[in-house]
Amino acid sequence: MAVRMPICSTPPGRLVVEPFVDAHVHLDYSNTVGRPRPNESGTLFEAIEIWAERKDKGLNDFDEIYRNALAAARSEAANGTGFIRSHVDVTDPELTALKAILQLREDVKDWIEIQIVAFPQNTVLSFRDGPQLLEQALEMGADVIGGIPHNEGTPEDGVASLRIIFDLAEKYGVPIDVHCDEIDDEQSRFVEVMAAFASKRKLDVPVTASHAVAMAYYNNSYMAKLTSKLIAAELNFAICPNENLQLQGWGMVPMPRGVAPIKRLVESGLNVAFGQDSIADPFYPLGDGNMLRILDVGLHVGHMLSDTHLSQALEFITSNGAKNLGISDRYGIEEGKPANCIVLDCSTDKEAVQCQPDVLCSVHNGKTVFTRKPAAYMTTMDGFAAS
Ligand code: FE2
Repeated sequence: MAVRMPICSTPPGRLVVEPFVDAHVHLDYSNTVGRPRPNESGTLFEAIEIWAERKDKGLNDFDEIYRNALAAARSEAANGTGFIRSHVDVTDPELTALKAILQLREDVKDWIEIQIVAFPQNTVLSFRDGPQLLEQALEMGADVIGGIPHNEGTPEDGVASLRIIFDLAEKYGVPIDVHCDEIDDEQSRFVEVMAAFASKRKLDVPVTASHAVAMAYYNNSYMAKLTSKLIAAELNFAICPNENLQLQGWGMVPMPRGVAPIKRLVESGLNVAFGQDSIADPFYPLGDGNMLRILDVGLHVGHMLSDTHLSQALEFITSNGAKNLGISDRYGIEEGKPANCIVLDCSTDKEAVQCQPDVLCSVHNGKTVFTRKPAAYMTTMDGFAAS
């Protein structure tokens, strides 16, 4: 006998919500784990080394990047994601990854929307022609400008790189999304510089600090001073809880959480969205673009399992992400907006976190991307089948 049972404790329902937003992922890295070699230490530093080796060995060809990224995009869409912000490495004189993801952005636009961040993985100022490559990426069609100030050669170069990034954002009128302070170092304080530049320059584009791991180590006095600056600057945050739990804190005693203080940022009124960050790459061997899994971990590491938090949990992977992407004016289930929605096999936000339900239907710009039958069990056991 095939039976349909509620996957949660409450009767089965159908929750219609906006498609998920993955506010931070690296599609060009996806599905490359183990090539050219595995990340033995598990650290961010070794991952960056492996990625550089991969480029040096000429393994990053257009077809492979495109094929891997397409598989990742399909996996994201199958899990209910309709909007992706993908950082793409532009520290490559040929800009091969950028060309592949630009092509992908066009090819998949009927079922998923991709924003491309020009991301200088090997820094702006320590990489040959770094500033020129960043600008070239924008001229070729990247939607957003990125950076990595904490990895520049000196703190002064970190600040200088942010100045270049804000200058280019102003010149091209594009949002900013910077890998900022992704390091277990309480002295890494470029989020403050970003806030200062954002307040001073008033570029009228969304400005996002991604990862912001060092904030987990800031003392209370500094956080108190910093928070008011972040609010004044209207800085957005893209936090990647799964990935940074894996990458941070190696060998440290006591072992830290290594994730930005999500709850504190949210309670201060700042916008926080979650990202997958990696799908099977040197930085993180797992990941499939299932934002409900990211949400689950983010809420746990953020100490956000109260009824209040759980009742609106999906915001981290829906409307908050839309704000990061600067698409709030056309995102949401409202009359007059493009018809984008998914149907979840559950009734509430809390159940979505608790039960990790299937996506039963996905609609992108008025067209059905897929439908999926609800799960059913085969059984002959009395009592197993719920009424
Ligand atoms: Fe990242």
